[in-house]
Amino acid sequence: MSEAPNTISWTGGGDGFLTLLDQTRLPGETAYLNCEDVESVYDAIKRLAVRGAPAIGIAAAYGVCLATRETSSLTEARTAALAACDRLAESRPTAVNLFWALERMRGVITAMADDTPVVQFAKRLAGEARAIHDEDRAQCAAIGRHGAELLAEVVPPGGGVLTHCNTGALATGGDGTALAVLFALHRARQESNQSFTVFADETRPLLQGARLTMWELIERGVPATLICDSMAAQVMREGRVQAVIVGADRIAANGDAANKIGTYGLAVLAKHHGVPFYVAAPSTTFDLELASGDEIPIEERAAEEITDGFGRRTAPEGAQVYNPAFDVAPAALVTAIITERGVISPVTGEEVAAIVGTEIPA
Ligand code: MRU
Repeated sequence: MSEAPNTISWTGGGDGFLTLLDQTRLPGETAYLNCEDVESVYDAIKRLAVRGAPAIGIAAAYGVCLATRETSSLTEARTAALAACDRLAESRPTAVNLFWALERMRGVITAMADDTPVVQFAKRLAGEARAIHDEDRAQCAAIGRHGAELLAEVVPPGGGVLTHCNTGALATGGDGTALAVLFALHRARQESNQSFTVFADETRPLLQGARLTMWELIERGVPATLICDSMAAQVMREGRVQAVIVGADRIAANGDAANKIGTYGLAVLAKHHGVPFYVAAPSTTFDLELASGDEIPIEERAAEEITDGFGRRTAPEGAQVYNPAFDVAPAALVTAIITERGVISPVTGEEVAAIVGTEIPA
């Protein structure tokens, strides 16, 4: 299995810069964006050059560090860093990892003593962003381990697993969430000369499944088959998959899980066909302040993503469009949520609290 792509990297110390793998150009081109100011990070998040819940949080944390570059006093640096937190929080509304990471950066900004030299302040911010990045990498690895153990029980040799959107190294600081589980299962199966196939939904309208998940799976040698989103029912009916696994952008206290549009439909289909439906996400994706998924803000994106997807008009001028980017799989349809802290099953408020606690993890 080859190496994971370098999705997000920070070069230098407190006065460093951020490099992002530009995901809008994949799979055709492997191009990198150097971000040297807050606005370029805001723009990269907004137009999905960097995307996926944990990756958005990590990129935003580094983005805050860029705010201090032109400042000469602590007051100036602190004001700029707090303004950066506010600005980056406006980039996308659904993935709670963004707000969690910015809250953590705010904590560091406000906790620093008034006589801290600016260089020290900048260094400390970069250290915090790096810590968020490193912790996510470790969380991905733990999710992979827990999830592979679980899926090994339900996916027979030669079987199949369906996934949606992109939840791999492109979406996180490590190997991914749902895809980390599939990478780990693939490694385990290889050791015993067995295999399984990943069915990847293309994920309309922006094709994160076709462009990004298929790219990651092929790069890393995992057997994979691409399908259109509308084929999932047929694939389940034909018995080609024994499990569905997806990531999440925000999970409410009762276990309702928001993820890429189409996830809710898959959960309903899986229930109908008796296929277990798993969500894989780090504890940083839980928003325990929200009682249920009804309270999760759902991002609506531009109509052009549907009418002019990839440089070609596919609907008549004047066509009215509704483009919600996420939907919510109700807890009742989720067999288990795989976190770095362990597996939540059955998915109830009590079990969520037992595994991820009642506090937002620090
Ligand atoms: O709009 P995107 O591409 O940022 O949406 C990403 C997803 O919905 C992922 O499934 C989710 O963030 C989990 S990523 C580990």
